[in-house]
Order: sequence, then structure tokens, then C-alpha cells
Amino acid sequence: MFLKQISLINFKNHAEFEAQFSEKINCFVGNNGMGKTNLLDAIYYLSFCKSFFNAGDLQNIKHHQDFFVIKGNFEKFEEESEVYCGIKRNQKKVFKKNKKEYSRLSEHIGQFPLVMISPSDAELINGISEVRRKFLDGIIAQYNAPYLEKLIAYNQVLKQRNALLKMFHENHYFDAETLDIIDEQLCNAGRVILQTRLEFLKEFTPIFNKHYRFISNLHEEVSLHYENSLDERDFKTALMTSLARDRAVHHTTVGPHKDDLEFKINGYDLKKYASQGQQKSYLLALKLAQFELIKQHKNTKPLLLLDDVYDKLDEERFTKLLEMVSSEDFGQVFITDTHPERMHELLNQKKLAHKIFLVNRSA
Ligand SMILES: Nc1ncnc2c1ncn2[C@@H]1O[C@H](COP(=O)(O)OP(=O)(O)OP(=O)(O)O)[C@@H](O)[C@H]1O
Ligand SMILES: [Mg+2]
Repeated sequence: MFLKQISLINFKNHAEFEAQFSEKINCFVGNNGMGKTNLLDAIYYLSFCKSFFNAGDLQNIKHHQDFFVIKGNFEKFEEESEVYCGIKRNQKKVFKKNKKEYSRLSEHIGQFPLVMISPSDAELINGISEVRRKFLDGIIAQYNAPYLEKLIAYNQVLKQRNALLKMFHENHYFDAETLDIIDEQLCNAGRVILQTRLEFLKEFTPIFNKHYRFISNLHEEVSLHYENSLDERDFKTALMTSLARDRAVHHTTVGPHKDDLEFKINGYDLKKYASQGQQKSYLLALKLAQFELIKQHKNTKPLLLLDDVYDKLDEERFTKLLEMVSSEDFGQVFITDTHPERMHELLNQKKLAHKIFLVNRSA
């Protein structure tokens, strides 16, 4: 699978941008602030119907404009598809494939799988637990559509439960029956989510370990551990046990929305004890494992977006990475860099099929 071409109007700093891409390596080169990362984000939009960076669509409209359009043509299993995303102020997002609008955006997720490697991945280590849950869920959702449905359902019921707890608190009353109905729904969705995440980790962990060993050339033991807020309890039992606390704080304190992923190196907490380089290698291994797993499940190679990887790696490791992503195991790759000559030289020297796009200030 690959993205043949893209065209943008008013997307972030790009008034207009058009490009035909190589099936293999594509480089966006240019100075700081010219919009290289923004181009990766536009590609990300075509896969995920949203920005990698901004939660709100409107932030991505070019300043002083009132709409943006992203159009891309993918080729997958020898079939071409046009994906369209249009955002206009005060209007609903329009997202179409082959001119047909989706009734639900979740139907699109996973059709054109993509993995982004970015400096903001560090948030996985330094950020709150939600970042790590999103990482897990984001991978699974790309190949398991029913999981995404369950997750959406779970979050809706969770919202209802929290609203109910708040109402009880404000109105000084309690209705066990209504809460029981909601708890039942929450448990049904929650059990599937937990089970699927655990199964996913069983599959993911050995792949992650393999990539870590490859990148680091070192012999540290790395591990991933799922921190389950239910402990050994059944979800329903855990909800019952924590009811008094939930009523006091008027939100739900146990369940998959509270779980976390623990990163360890030689048995110690990665954030506290690992060196910068070890942390970088850990993140890269997580992302490469994500790539491999999605590839296996979808039977197609996801697009790989590498933002500022130079910033993360020394020349030797970068060359190794570039050779790796140029191999048959990987498909189409997009890389950003601030040094055109460096990229050009490296790619020519290695005789790697590629296209370089100069990103200048857009009008
Ligand atoms: N909605 C928007 N409208 C106009 N410009 C925007 C908008 N959002 C972001 N920008 C501009 O985009 C530029 C940043 O683009 P981007 O992050 O893609 O740069 P870059 O080429 O990746 O730079 P670096 O090499 O520093 O990573 C900034 O100048 C920012 O002001
Ligand atoms: Mg950038």
C-alpha cells in the first residue's frame, strides 16, 4: 500500500501544496518552521481522520482562512482510492472515500494503516497514563474494528456513569437500580477491552524485545507490564468495592480507563533509571513493533512517518535505521530533515529509491 499523491489547501502553514510520491522513500527537507512536520500531519489525517498533534480540527486551518482540504490517492492491493478531508468553520467535518461520505469515521480507521515516529513519542515515557492507553488502543484499533466500537461504547457508558454519580451527589439521593443497569453495560464492554489488551500484549512483547535488541546491540532486559486497576478482581466486584469512593469523588475510579502500561529496563522503571539513549531506543523499538504487528494483522505494510529522527539518533544508528526501513520489510516511508545535502548524500550512497521535496515558506 502507498500514498501516490497528496494535495492540500489551507492546511496549517500551507496555502497550497501538491506532490506525487515515491513508493519507497520520500524526504521533506527545509529549514525550521517551514512546514515539514505539518505535511506528515496531513498524511496522518488521511489515515486517522484527525491530526496527530491537535485535538481540535479547527486549529489546523491556516490562520485567517475558514476551511482546509486534504486530498490523497492511495493504492492498495492494486486498487486506487481517493480520500478527502474537508474542515470548514461552523460545519461538520466532511470525510470521504471515493466521493462517498462515511456515516461513522471509525469505519475509516485501519483502512490505510500508518505509524508515526516523532519526538513527541517521549510523552509515552513522561506523560500521563492516558498517553500509554491511547498508544495501546491506537494500535489495536487499526486492525480490530470491533475493539474500537467497544472502546467508543465503553467511553459513552463511562460518561453516563460519571454524570449519574455527579447527579447523585448534587441532589443528595441514590438510585441503585439505574446505576446497576449502567454498571452491567460498563462491565460488558470493559471486560472485552481488558481481555483484548492483554492478548495484544502477549503478541506485542516478543516483537518489541526483538527490535530493542536489534537497535541497542546491548544486553539489557526490557519489559512491558500491564497495570490492571482491577487487580485480580472481576470488574463488577471491583465496581462494587469502590462504590463508596466513586460516590465521594463522583467519578469511576476503577476500570480499563484507569489502567497503565509500565516500561522497565533491567527490572527498573525506564523513566527514572534509563539513560537518554536507552529511552530513545526503547521508544523506537515500541514503534517498530507497532509497525510489524499492524503489518501482520492487516497483511499490508503501513506507511511509516519519521519526524526528526536525526534529532534522536547518532549518524550510525540513523544509517542503520534508514537501511532497515529501505528493506523489503518496510513499504513507503516519509522522513523530515533540515539538511538536504545530508539526506541526498546518504540516500544516493546507499542507492535507495527516493524522492526529495524541498519545503519552503508557503504564501
Ligand atoms: N493553523 C496554522 N496556520 C498557519 N500556520 C500554522 C498553523 N499551524 C501551524 N502553523 C505554522 O507552521 C509552522 C510549523 O510547521 P512545522 O512544525 O511543520 O515546521 P517544520 O518544518 O517541521 O520545522 P522543524 O524543522 O522546526 O521541525 C510554524 O511556523 C507555525 O506557526
Ligand atoms: Mg518538524
